[in-house]
Amino acid sequence: MNQTPYEAIGGDETIKKLVAAFYKRVAKHPDLIPIFPDDLTETQRKQHQFLSQFLGGPTLYSDEDGHPMLRARHLPFEITPGRANAWLSCMDEAMDEIGLENPMRDQIFSRLTFTAHHMVNTDKLD
Ligand code: HEM
Repeated sequence: MNQTPYEAIGGDETIKKLVAAFYKRVAKHPDLIPIFPDDLTETQRKQHQFLSQFLGGPTLYSDEDGHPMLRARHLPFEITPGRANAWLSCMDEAMDEIGLENPMRDQIFSRLTFTAHHMVNTDKLD
């Protein structure tokens, strides 16, 4: 039987831990603070829903909000190459904190790297 990445990493519980470890860092990252809301509760809830379906689990995000259209939803925010790297460094550290193991860790991180670079919507230097 082929497991989804969602199942392989331990499902909902692991995603919840990852998202909490991630936003704890986003909240403190000087490059990210200016574009994120002060209260990250709702942002964190949406990310949990999104990652669930991104990793092959229940389609929580689309059930509530339809097609993610992630790039379009990010257009109101200036996402520089530096901010994409900041986002990825918070994710990298969050994966370390929760002890996400390989091969899933590298596989998921590389998909997120691709997605993060796709969100870049300005070549303004930062
Ligand atoms: C929402 C920044 C990459 C998934 C947001 C918001 C910001 C943001 C500022 C709005 C927060 C709010 O108002 O609640 C960034 C930056 C990125 C990045 C700087 C760097 C490249 C990503 C990636 C993913 C992602 C790679 C997917 C894995 C989401 C989701 C939402 C969101 C699901 C919620 C959308 C909604 O409101 O429905 N992001 N993001 N983001 N981001 Fe990102």
